[in-house]
Amino acid sequence: MTVKVAPSLLSADFSRLSDELKRIEENGADWAHLDIMDGHFVPSITIGPVVVKSLRPHTKLFMDAHLMVSEPEKHLEEFAKAGVNLLTIQAEATEHLDRALRKIKELGLKAGVALNPATPASFLEYVWPLLDLVLVMSVNPGAGGQAFIPEVLPKISYCAKEIRSRNLDVEVEVDGGVNRETAPAIIRAGASILVAGSAIFNSSDGMELIHDFKRL
Ligand code: DX5
Ligand code: ZN
Repeated sequence: MTVKVAPSLLSADFSRLSDELKRIEENGADWAHLDIMDGHFVPSITIGPVVVKSLRPHTKLFMDAHLMVSEPEKHLEEFAKAGVNLLTIQAEATEHLDRALRKIKELGLKAGVALNPATPASFLEYVWPLLDLVLVMSVNPGAGGQAFIPEVLPKISYCAKEIRSRNLDVEVEVDGGVNRETAPAIIRAGASILVAGSAIFNSSDGMELIHDFKRL
């Protein structure tokens, strides 16, 4: 199975985001991964729905929004209006995961749950049928350029196996420290989508890497 590649704009040039979107689109990216941080769930603050909405007309790419925000349920509608295609919320950020996922579906979007490195995949036991994607965080969220945490590899395999045995159509996305060295093991474990920020935007052969990931 060929993996999809979702470059994370977190490591792009924020003064030229629409050009960066064009660049990844021309170089074979499948999705655009947007990291939304609120200064509360994680220390950093990035972009919100206003910026996402202004970018929407500049790309045909599927917009994969990763909300690293507390109480994401308060912001779902605004991101839907901004034109994202998929909303992933952090399992640890809401007390009402089931309700928040149902809300995302009601808004007509695909729904994902992100699991921090220490959060077990069994957390998803009763929400699997609501999911289009599980995002296995392979670094602690909050910043690009961190080292891959290999302890999450069994979690990737567990999710892939669970999806197969339940006969579900759910993507397994892996985010954090994904690069030429770490990608083969991540794909072997069962990932179907690779997110990469610094490996794509901060290296001279980053755009070629989008194609190279698909050949692994
Ligand atoms: C981290 C973000 C990631 C980040 C990954 O909190 O969720 O999407 O951009 O960056 P790299 O690929 O540099 O680890
Ligand atoms: Zn992310």
